[in-house]
Amino acid sequence: MIHIPKSEYSRRRKALMAQMVPNSIAILPAAAVAIRNRDVEHVYRQDSDFQYLSGFPEPQAVIVLMPGREHGEYVLFCRERNAERELWDGLRAGQEGAIRDFGADDAFPITDIDDILPGLIEGRDRVYSAMGSNPEFDRHLMDWINVIRSKAHLGAQPPNEFVALDHLLHDMRLYKSAAEVKVMREAARISAQAHIRAMQASRAGLHEFSLEAELDYAFRKGGAKMPAYGSIVASGRNSCILHYQQNDAVLKDGDLVLIDAGCEIDCYASDITRTWPVNGKYSPEQRAIYELVLAAQEAAFAEIAPDKHWNQAHEATVRVITAGLVTLGLLHGEVDELIAREAHKAFYMHRAGHWLGMDVHDVGEYKVGGEWRVLEVGMALTVEPGIYIAPDNQNVAKKWRGIGVRIEDDVVVTKTGCEILSHGVPKTVAEIEALMAAARTQAA
Ligand code: GLY
Ligand code: MN
Ligand code: MN
Repeated sequence: MIHIPKSEYSRRRKALMAQMVPNSIAILPAAAVAIRNRDVEHVYRQDSDFQYLSGFPEPQAVIVLMPGREHGEYVLFCRERNAERELWDGLRAGQEGAIRDFGADDAFPITDIDDILPGLIEGRDRVYSAMGSNPEFDRHLMDWINVIRSKAHLGAQPPNEFVALDHLLHDMRLYKSAAEVKVMREAARISAQAHIRAMQASRAGLHEFSLEAELDYAFRKGGAKMPAYGSIVASGRNSCILHYQQNDAVLKDGDLVLIDAGCEIDCYASDITRTWPVNGKYSPEQRAIYELVLAAQEAAFAEIAPDKHWNQAHEATVRVITAGLVTLGLLHGEVDELIAREAHKAFYMHRAGHWLGMDVHDVGEYKVGGEWRVLEVGMALTVEPGIYIAPDNQNVAKKWRGIGVRIEDDVVVTKTGCEILSHGVPKTVAEIEALMAAARTQAA
């Protein structure tokens, strides 16, 4: 399995601590276990920030970073070993494992945190934490601070600055290392296999969930624990619902099916969309819209390189789509004027992409000082233009209504442009029709 090496977690902690002010402390909790119903839990997914700094996969844990501390800069609070619980629920690292396998300088039982953490905070000037995103943890933090305040008459010094950690940490997460790109390439490779499998299985009369099952099979078979987000399998007019997830309609002859799905590997997402005809052959209208979206995507790729700013790719898609909709007779008027009044939004209502990483809609600022961010090597993003013609759009000829097409790939900025991580899924009309025809011949 391809994964992030342990040495990288240590490098990240050091890089973060190098940016923290002297005499400060950073405190981050693991994700809580989410209850699905009664005593059944949702599949556990570590908090992305916590994972980024530790690689520690367990709940009920807290990372504490104290740059320059003589007796260890990295302290991890975690669950104790417990033979009975481990018999039922699986192995725990315990404090020994936290030090031996996860690089902690010191580790304590999570049950002792109220006794120990105030002492670690005391005397430090500044506390970094993910303020506001976890109210329960914020309350704990204030309780620990109040313990210190209550001892002020004994000379205890509570910190006087509380700073959101996000700014430092999320900027680090925006730049992907070689190891991160490798994991993301693997996630995209497995997701590409999944899309190919769903294309090959596509038949009128099946349900959308039949194709979802093909995706899930390929994800798990490839070693992914779970999809990076709820898979969208949207056929016919459902393709015009951007975040459709019901996935239970019957696939009809003559309809398109739009699949937006990607798996997660070692907590890194992939996010791929393809749109193909259920019966293996695009109708003339479906093909015209499809090729227009594809041209928009190609134009966007050309605008992704160091020194280009974030919005250039989006602007390129808007221009190509607006001009194309005029050519097809779906918009009327002069292209520049239509762009100025955002006429495309009736058909293309989302942006051309988003940052991609540990979160599918990853962290990182899109603007800096009020200006669009300039792209740099290692930034990863999606490129996903689409056209959605509402089934009840009375302004267009009937033959166009209910067609929804999105094409989405994952890229990382390189020195000379960008690398397309998800190139493994067929994309041109000819490639998709050939793949689907071959699958039908084999099945016959
Ligand atoms: N799958 C969600 C998105 O494409 O942003
Ligand atoms: Mn997507
Ligand atoms: Mn996306």
